[in-house]
Amino acid sequence: MLQIDDMRTEDLEQVSRLEASCFSMPWSKKSFEEVMGKSDAVYVTAREEEKVVGYCGAYVILDEADINQVAVEPSCRNKGIGRKMMEVLLQKLKRAGANAVTLEVRRSNEAAIALYESLGFVTEGIRKNFYEKPAEDGLIMWKR
Ligand SMILES: CC(C)(COP(=O)(O)OP(=O)(O)OC[C@H]1O[C@@H](n2cnc3c(N)ncnc32)[C@H](O)[C@@H]1OP(=O)(O)O)[C@@H](O)C(=O)NCCC(=O)NCCS
Repeated sequence: MLQIDDMRTEDLEQVSRLEASCFSMPWSKKSFEEVMGKSDAVYVTAREEEKVVGYCGAYVILDEADINQVAVEPSCRNKGIGRKMMEVLLQKLKRAGANAVTLEVRRSNEAAIALYESLGFVTEGIRKNFYEKPAEDGLIMWKR
């Protein structure tokens, strides 16, 4: 059964492995440990039994939140986990006082862009060569 709730220290080994398998410039386990210790960070994990199948998280700054991590285990994609996880995160961000939420996404990342648009995010800007490995423009999306 799918469970989505706050990220736990015990999740971090699996979270950092999934992160390394999804991104060319992954956060280390230490980066996740550091971020989880911050009071303005909101991170959630999706688990099936004890297996981590996804995670996402954001920082809240005053009444705005910046989502910086979203990933679902490759073999578990297209089953609605990303959407459910993001819905839980957005609820938590609202409760933490965020009236507006932003994120950046690679211009070619059709799956993520479609997910964000379906959740109400709108592209408000483009950051030239925001990404490395490979270099690519980033779309700046907001949900207000
Ligand atoms: C982006 C990602 C998190 C989506 O997770 P997911 O669990 O597969 O997404 P869901 O099954 O909840 O799909 C939700 C919506 O996203 C969109 N979507 C998901 N996969 C898609 C694909 N391959 N192509 C187009 N749209 C897609 C659809 O709009 C879908 O809604 P629908 O099912 O009503 O059509 C996942 O593909 C992933 O981890 N990608 C690699 C890491 C990454 O790129 N993270 C984002 C960095 S900004």
